Amino acid sequence: LILPDVPKLLLGKRVLITAGPTREDIDPVRYITNHSSGKMGYALAQAAQKLGAEVTLVSGPVTLSPPSGVNILKVSSAEQMHTCVMQNVKNSDIFIGCAAVADYRPIQKNSQKIKKSDQELTLTFVKNPDILSDVAHLANAPFTLGFAAETQNIKQYALGKLQRKKLNMIAANDVSDENIGFNSEQNALTVFWPEGELKLEIADKNILATQLMELVAKRYTK
Ligand code: CTP
Ligand code: CA
Repeated sequence: LILPDVPKLLLGKRVLITAGPTREDIDPVRYITNHSSGKMGYALAQAAQKLGAEVTLVSGPVTLSPPSGVNILKVSSAEQMHTCVMQNVKNSDIFIGCAAVADYRPIQKNSQKIKKSDQELTLTFVKNPDILSDVAHLANAPFTLGFAAETQNIKQYALGKLQRKKLNMIAANDVSDENIGFNSEQNALTVFWPEGELKLEIADKNILATQLMELVAKRYTK
């Protein structure tokens, strides 16, 4: 039995993808992070590889095993993810920001464990660099796809991010729906680009990732 190969829509294209959460240290035993299993980003990496792309996956801390045939670079904090992406984006044709990057980090990591006391604890946070926006604003920017995790006004917020970050496409995720997103096996997305939109109905993340990569390939070659 010879199975038909999937058409290699991204043959020889270099695709860089961020996935998973980032981890922002407070002290040697504590950190803050975002909800993210990494499943969607890992599924996208596998889908792009199957379409013939040369894939590099920059991953925050997750428990998934690396997709086969994909070059994986593991990082922890948003600053490390930013540095790693900027070092590896140079020759990329397509960049996909799928990571749930922490928007803020503690102003400093305490070198010693913070001991509890009877007082309230106040931490000060500073803003992390926006990896996706920095990539999209490069002089020789690759084709960029971002994600928008929203709990309300999904279209309006997603279109705002598409424009502000100078993206080619954005995939919006309704994270208020408990059946999809984060730790679930399934997801549903609405994809927006300057001239159109497409709803990808609820499906297994692997199936959705293939549909999304095919859409990226189609828009990229236009
Ligand atoms: N992103 C990034 N670097 C950051 C923050 C976000 O690369 N420091 C990327 C995410 O990977 C995602 C997109 O930007 O592809 C949108 O992330 P999201 O959290 O939805 O939007 P923000 O711009 O951070 O705005 P807000 O959290 O206020 O909605
Ligand atoms: Ca954010």
